[in-house]
Amino acid sequence: QPIYLSDYRPPAYRVTHTELTFDLDPAATRVKARLHVERHPDREAGAPLELDGEQLALKAIAIDGQPLGEDEYALTERGLRVERVPARFLLDTEVEIAPEDNTALEGLYQSNGMYCTQCEAEGFRRITFYPDRPDVMATFSTTVIGDAGREPVLLSNGNPVERGELPGGRHFVTWEDPHPKPCYLFALVAGDLKKVEDGFTTAGGRDVTLQIWVEEENLGKTDHAMASLKRAMRWDEETYGREYDLDLFMIVAVNDFNMGAMENKGLNIFNSAAVLTHPDTATDAAFQRVEGIVAHEYFHNWSGNRVTCRDWFQLSLKEGFTVFRDQCFSADTNSAPVKRIEEVSFFRTAQFAEDAGPTAHPVRPDHYIEIGNFYTLTIYEKGAEIVRMLRNLVGWDAFRRGSDRYFERFDGQAVTIEDFVACMAEASGRDLSQFLRWYDQAGTPEIDAHGEYDYANGVYRLVLRQRTPATPGQPDKRPLHIPIRLGLVGTKTGRDLPLTLDGEALGTDGVIHLHEEEQEFVFTEVAEAPVPSLARNFSAPVKLHFPYSREDLAFLQTHDSDGFNRWDAGQRLALLALDDLIAAHRNGVEKVMDGRVVEAFRALLAAEPDDKAVLAEMLTLPSEAYIAEQQPLVDVDAIHAARQFVKQSLALALRDDFLRVYEANRREAPYAPEPEQIGERSLKNVALSYLMSIEDEEGIELARRQFEADHNMTDVRAALTLLVHSSRDDLADPALRAFGEKWAHDPLVMDQWFSIQVSRPQSDALERVKFLMDHPAFSLTNPNKVRALIGAFAQNRINFHRADGEGYRLLADVVIELNRLNPEIAARLVTPLTRWQRFDETRQDLMKGELERIRGEALSPNLYEVIEKALA
Ligand code: ARG
Ligand code: ZN
Repeated sequence: QPIYLSDYRPPAYRVTHTELTFDLDPAATRVKARLHVERHPDREAGAPLELDGEQLALKAIAIDGQPLGEDEYALTERGLRVERVPARFLLDTEVEIAPEDNTALEGLYQSNGMYCTQCEAEGFRRITFYPDRPDVMATFSTTVIGDAGREPVLLSNGNPVERGELPGGRHFVTWEDPHPKPCYLFALVAGDLKKVEDGFTTAGGRDVTLQIWVEEENLGKTDHAMASLKRAMRWDEETYGREYDLDLFMIVAVNDFNMGAMENKGLNIFNSAAVLTHPDTATDAAFQRVEGIVAHEYFHNWSGNRVTCRDWFQLSLKEGFTVFRDQCFSADTNSAPVKRIEEVSFFRTAQFAEDAGPTAHPVRPDHYIEIGNFYTLTIYEKGAEIVRMLRNLVGWDAFRRGSDRYFERFDGQAVTIEDFVACMAEASGRDLSQFLRWYDQAGTPEIDAHGEYDYANGVYRLVLRQRTPATPGQPDKRPLHIPIRLGLVGTKTGRDLPLTLDGEALGTDGVIHLHEEEQEFVFTEVAEAPVPSLARNFSAPVKLHFPYSREDLAFLQTHDSDGFNRWDAGQRLALLALDDLIAAHRNGVEKVMDGRVVEAFRALLAAEPDDKAVLAEMLTLPSEAYIAEQQPLVDVDAIHAARQFVKQSLALALRDDFLRVYEANRREAPYAPEPEQIGERSLKNVALSYLMSIEDEEGIELARRQFEADHNMTDVRAALTLLVHSSRDDLADPALRAFGEKWAHDPLVMDQWFSIQVSRPQSDALERVKFLMDHPAFSLTNPNKVRALIGAFAQNRINFHRADGEGYRLLADVVIELNRLNPEIAARLVTPLTRWQRFDETRQDLMKGELERIRGEALSPNLYEVIEKALA
């Protein structure tokens, strides 16, 4: 039952105005809807009216005030059909729904007793009968009726226009949203919430009230989100000329939420983990995540809400662009190189794996069974990389003109990715037709590069060859337009050489365009032998292979003018050393550490860093997951052993340097989530992790003291993790116990407590998961808890991939239970099992066995689609 992009047709009927009344009750909420419907001008007369609806008990239905007889409409699994309707009419329906039974967290549900909604992508059909598709845009007027005691706060989109008392201790508020929107942007919140309020005056002089609504005990955790919101609002005005368009902007924090947050018009709903922070409970990473997500949802007000998607195949139109916008915002407010390094190392690990696996799909898919499965790294992050390439291709000025054109031309409309790219093409005068293939072709392009310096003529020839491996359903790939930013670093001077290509001067840091399968680029007037620095700042989402020697890499690591490539050269150098050690481990040969890596680290530790956060990244070895990505066949144990060996060898050789760096970076100033402090903390904690890898006595003492000093969650969590991941239970147990008791009341901190213990390398990780599943703070119906315990365990590579298959079995058991409770989370959680092709035969069989076992269940569409792909 897949849906195809090529089948798109405009809706037969559209809704211009929607009036809703909710009479809230946990078991039996009544929803009255009055839809102002008219036939779509481009569609033929006489088409039946088809509305989506799931799990709704219909109580009444009328057209233009006339109740319909039983033979005048039909109810199906998927909705409601009325065979004959006028060209223009009012449709009244009344349905009953049970928010308290809604564990899928789509539609209207309850979280900690409060009511909230999640409608994207297709949750609105669990609220009322409606054309639940983004190209139907209506103004909304919503009345919420609740118990004045239990639900003193009643929120929806737009502006409150009326409120009052009702008999029986009930009260109501009516909200009006003047901006036409698709129903996926509808939201309702009701409960005993408290607010923090602030204000913002837009560039155009509109005074906007900003509110963050939380449970009372979280009132002290909203400052950072509020400050981030104000920064984001200003940034969008200054950078994109986009102003906010209502008098009120609200954020609500809820504990049970499938994703990070949702951009509902004027009423963003957030996973509490994506909005609440406090120095005592949230790490630097959490502070930065909150800033990024608050900005992301706010930016959707234009890229997503004012201009939305024609259909869900266009999801990346809003998500790719908005992720790109939030990435730039975060780069502007933090250390930009470190932001880029973090983005790319995450992208190359997780998105590359998705692109290489059975669920690989284009940034604009051409079919799907369950759209909920397509909120992926490909749609979001690869989509953002494509937008970034576009920005670099046309340059910022043209990009900004294209963006203005896009928002002006399509304001209030539901449009496509072509519409967006066409604006960029018009604004820049560039032909972007080949570039558009990025949206339709799945898989990670690989570029094989090699170069040759001709001493006699001062010429450097660079040959690039691209290929994209086949992906499911796409055996043949066409060449893409790939922009490669590069420099040629002179080996004598250590400087970027001026680039001359076809007689044209490109500066010292230029962009070349790969269009063909294979292309040669001949640089002339190259005064000395260079080492090429390719795909600077990750100029395209590709794997680039170049036969660098270790000497080349060590040279680039210190001399490349591009900070990102300096870091990447170090990663490549470490990967080469790791390759040897992985082979040695597999062959049972003695492991020998590559002295060049030690010397590179020694130099890094000796230099006075200009950006400590970058240095911390440079001192961080590639993760086990990223190393695995580079291997033809993943040997989890060899990878773990090799990485551990490198880490310990570095710690032994450079112990005093790490100690010195630790000491130099422990400051006792009051905590602030600011780039400089964050950089210091990361550097200090990286140094400590090396010392702890050899369980150095002094290191242990430092970790213990750092834990007990209890200065801020970043330092406490770093120290606790190192203690718990050590081989010494006398260090792990008391720290875990103290932390667990201290934070038993705080669900977000308990999530961290769960994750830390089940990520430990010791062989009891699996038993701990089982034990913790019975912990009073754990719950399968709370997605954060599932991610913190089960999701984190599945990332614990040596333990999840235990040779006895117990890790796989545990995951499958949980997936089977979640299939009933929360299909969206179940389908996400199963991902690690779908990557079976990458492992040895024994593990393949075990993983497939678990997938087959899951397949034996009555599957939700979400899980069905993923399992079928994984076993295809
Ligand atoms: N649009 C939201 C965001 O990116 C995410 C919505 C996710 N919805 C879902 N059913 N997975 O901010
Ligand atoms: Zn988004």
